[in-house]
Amino acid sequence: MSLRTVVEGVSHYVPERRVTNADLTTMMDTSEQWILDRTGIEERRFVDQPTPTSHLALESARRVLEKTKTSTEDVDFLLAATLSPDFYFPGIGPMIQSGLGLKTIPALDIRVQCSGLVYGLSAADAFIRSGQSKCLLLVCAEVQSPVLDFSTRGRDTAVLFGDGAGALLLRAEETDDSTDLLARRGIIDSYLGSDGQGAEVLCVRTPGTSTTGFITQEDFDERRWRPHMDGRQVFKNAVIRMCEAATEILQRNSLTPDDIALIVPHQANLRINEAVRERLGFREEQVFNNIQKYGNTTSATIPIALSEAEEEGRLKRGDLLLTLAFGAGFTWGANLVVW
Ligand code: ACO
Repeated sequence: MSLRTVVEGVSHYVPERRVTNADLTTMMDTSEQWILDRTGIEERRFVDQPTPTSHLALESARRVLEKTKTSTEDVDFLLAATLSPDFYFPGIGPMIQSGLGLKTIPALDIRVQCSGLVYGLSAADAFIRSGQSKCLLLVCAEVQSPVLDFSTRGRDTAVLFGDGAGALLLRAEETDDSTDLLARRGIIDSYLGSDGQGAEVLCVRTPGTSTTGFITQEDFDERRWRPHMDGRQVFKNAVIRMCEAATEILQRNSLTPDDIALIVPHQANLRINEAVRERLGFREEQVFNNIQKYGNTTSATIPIALSEAEEEGRLKRGDLLLTLAFGAGFTWGANLVVW
């Protein structure tokens, strides 16, 4: 017998306010068609400001606890992934702990941007299989709209991102090692990678310790607190690394693309996901995308997509799921899960 990490449930929460591509054309020099053609995005959700990230995190976490009928007493570990915390420090983990009224359990923030869910599932699996947790809450949440530059100067990034959150409830389950791995529910494997050479390709430079005085007037005037991105570099690296992650995790588990019931990739750009799908030889119906409705919600894209895929009947108990992500850092990874 050994311990396995089972995904008991997933839920999501997005703010009410819809912002369409047409809305963005009133703020900057762009067009509905440019955004749709280059990214696949039709609309995204933005919070009414000020709404802290922990608020969205708490909403999604409450939903998954309710859906899985889990008592706050049962949760013994919390992982929180975000690039947009309420404060520079501390992270949102302890805020979620107190907001939900959980016991004084460990609360760990993960900072790997769009790879938050794949790193989070891998870490959750390690904590559970080592016996440190029996019931773990993984929450991925972002409020990105306040940092975006909605003038023409910031149009390359402002049109991409949205706000949202998703939460997963994970449980330890004793399983019989003699039965086939794919016949048992749970996380089978995770593949993770990073390359800090890409750190400045996509980043928010200040406030930070790389600048004298944390944030200077010049940093402020030069908008170094807004996201900086070389979109083409991100695009190219995302396709390469997501393909690498999928190929490695399939190969080392002796699986082929046909064995996968559903792929839920990070939602950064429909063209990235299409390029990855074609290179790997997956069929269109094997891939779930919902970037059209939410844009890139960074760490929350995969949890939101998992939650919607389940609601739509595209992801069912016993299905073999492959998640794939690439994010700022650079960071990337994949998980193989029997749902
Ligand atoms: N509207 C209209 N024109 C625009 C816009 C806009 N919103 N943004 C840029 N342009 C212009 C550029 O100024 C440029 O004009 P120029 O030719 O006169 O100089 C032209 O469009 C082409 O720009 P490119 O950057 O070459 O366009 P590209 O086809 O590469 O698409 C995009 C840009 C959509 C950003 C693409 O590179 C991309 O999606 N990259 C990946 C981005 C991404 O996924 N980021 C998040 C990832 S992960 C995370 O961790 C957060």
